[in-house]
Amino acid sequence: MKIVLFDAKNYDKKHFDAANQAYGYEIIYLEPALNRHSALMAKGADVVCPFVNCTIDSQVIDILKEEGVKLIAMRSAGFNNVDYKYALEQGIPTVRVPAYSPHAVAEHSFALLLALVRKLTHAYVRTREFNFSLSGLVGMDLYEKTFGVVGTGKIGRVAIDIAKGFGMHVLAYDPYPAKNLDVEYTNLDTLLRTSDFISLYCPLTKDNEHMINERTLDEMKNTAFIINTSRGALIDSDALLEALKEKKIGGAALDVYEEEAGIFYTDQSSEGIADDTLARLISMPNAIITSHQGYLTEEALRAISETTLKNVKEAEEGRTLTNQVK
Ligand code: NAI
Repeated sequence: MKIVLFDAKNYDKKHFDAANQAYGYEIIYLEPALNRHSALMAKGADVVCPFVNCTIDSQVIDILKEEGVKLIAMRSAGFNNVDYKYALEQGIPTVRVPAYSPHAVAEHSFALLLALVRKLTHAYVRTREFNFSLSGLVGMDLYEKTFGVVGTGKIGRVAIDIAKGFGMHVLAYDPYPAKNLDVEYTNLDTLLRTSDFISLYCPLTKDNEHMINERTLDEMKNTAFIINTSRGALIDSDALLEALKEKKIGGAALDVYEEEAGIFYTDQSSEGIADDTLARLISMPNAIITSHQGYLTEEALRAISETTLKNVKEAEEGRTLTNQVK
């Protein structure tokens, strides 16, 4: 099997090469993300292995089919960026890695939350300049605050446990509430109105795009913090920026951004960025933004590479695809 891995970074190569010891596949690592401009680079591949900022739409799928690709092996949990139904109609199934380390993402959401609430980025810059003043660095206890969890799947559940460890009161919303989960479920409006922290752990679907928008931001406490480690388009970024500027909410911690494709995972430090909303969000003192790195731990990368190659093996042997997106 020949696998072409798009949007490949050195850490992907390290982990895929290690996992591939057990399989011996030919893996080609390519820097560009998979999209209409790069799809022809899949020439000769049996499998393409895209990541979160690739765009696998019908046009890309037509090219992949033409080039003989038999499997789309996403190396992510999310699959909102692949037209998997169209791909399947063309005879190309899509597989993914449904779980690799929910801990990695949940822990990152708390890293962001703590950095924001305790103003760690400001404190870090100050002490590096030998400025030991504490003026403007007053934070807030998490203890006894309300943590609103939107989506109580694998990552949301780990986040609930972490929040409880801080002594927080946890409220949850999920259209499919989990049975036997020790958490207080409520509706989304109540969660948004009463939480001190609102953290998103749900997938991006057609129904929940911009679920955080001008109206829902208005409903939140003006001290509320929003944390998004799921998918950027869950939040209307322009509305969020306005809410931050007008101090309608306390702050925002984002690991994802709706227009992140082409920006995140690249070094733009010498050119700057053309996206004014993102640039302004980054400049806000009460916002912290990371470049979709919630998953980026050694444990998660190892699990991603191992499950991806297991998915490929199942396809190679014509077995049931355990992790097929349907
Ligand atoms: P999961 O499938 O285990 O859980 C998702 C939960 O969200 C389910 O309980 C589902 O019922 C619920 N849900 C669906 N629609 C909803 C809505 N409109 N409102 C509230 N809840 C809703 O997924 P998991 O593993 O917990 O991952 C969640 C998301 O995290 C992924 O879909 C992905 O977008 C994102 N993610 C981000 C990563 C990062 O590096 N920042 C890495 C991995 C995942």
